[in-house]
Amino acid sequence: MRKFSVAAVAIVAAFGLAAGSANAQDPIVIKFSHVVAPQTPKGKGAEKFKELAEKYTAGKVKIEIYPNSQLYKDKEEVEALQLGAVQMLAPSLAKFGPLGAKEFEAFDLPFIFEDRVALRKVTEGEIGKQLLKKLEGKGILGLAFWDNGFKIMSANKPLKSPDDFLGLKMRIQSSKVLEAQMKSLGALPQVMAFSEVYQGLQTGVVDGTENPPSNMYTQKMHEVQKHATVSRHGYLGYAVIVNKQFWEGLPADVRTSLDKAMAEATEFANDIAQKENDDALAAMKASGKTEFYDLTADEKKAWKAKLMVVHNEVAGRVGKELIESIYKATGAK
Ligand code: LMR
Repeated sequence: MRKFSVAAVAIVAAFGLAAGSANAQDPIVIKFSHVVAPQTPKGKGAEKFKELAEKYTAGKVKIEIYPNSQLYKDKEEVEALQLGAVQMLAPSLAKFGPLGAKEFEAFDLPFIFEDRVALRKVTEGEIGKQLLKKLEGKGILGLAFWDNGFKIMSANKPLKSPDDFLGLKMRIQSSKVLEAQMKSLGALPQVMAFSEVYQGLQTGVVDGTENPPSNMYTQKMHEVQKHATVSRHGYLGYAVIVNKQFWEGLPADVRTSLDKAMAEATEFANDIAQKENDDALAAMKASGKTEFYDLTADEKKAWKAKLMVVHNEVAGRVGKELIESIYKATGAK
């Protein structure tokens, strides 16, 4: 599929839709594309949504899930959604910055959320609602926030003090905040599509990376990284989004059923995310391929001293007021 341009795929998809409408009995097909493995919080959330959506619409809707960047890589998937080639995605929040919704990069700020309780105050509160609204002008409807988890850092050398990052090429998602974060540690940030990270690490194109354990494990990154630090220095989560025109064009009864399925799938995905990450970390530890390290209180302080300055550095881009409102909502300041 990647051989074809996104526009070409959109035309084929539009044809498919038109052909489908010739027979009123045909189910409405919703293509849900994502870049991670099925055995992840997002992968399992997508499966749960499929199960519930097909049940609640009594077969009027068919959900087709395409995991592991089968259809599109990071940058292409949102474009494909806007063109209508796929109808549903759950990109990580970092992926909305390049789209022009820079405020979403607030989620990438190092140490902005103490824990999931603090995070929920944002995603389930007014700030989360307002952020999703910002997508509407881009032909996108934001339906929900789905969790993954807190990130760990990996490389082929131990990463205990910020100095250990000096000169390391660290893969990041395309986010200015993540770029500033790695630079603050003295590393060289390298933007790379998620589907290419394993090979990038294996061949030494990059030296290290960051991701929640569930992503690291299911992409087998632990097989090509000798060391990892359970730093929990930042958060990675998702917004489930749909093509606005498609969604609003659905029959009202179908949309009501899909909204119900999404609400329940969201609860499911957010309930399992912590355990999925705990299990992935335990499995990687058991494999013995990567040595895991927990920061001491003093080391964590040193990381924070280097990384908290990023909040000020990027305030002009992300929005000072937004960052302040997150502090307030989470009780951080
Ligand atoms: C990444 O690119 O590292 C993540 O956004 C992948 C994902 O969707 O969890």
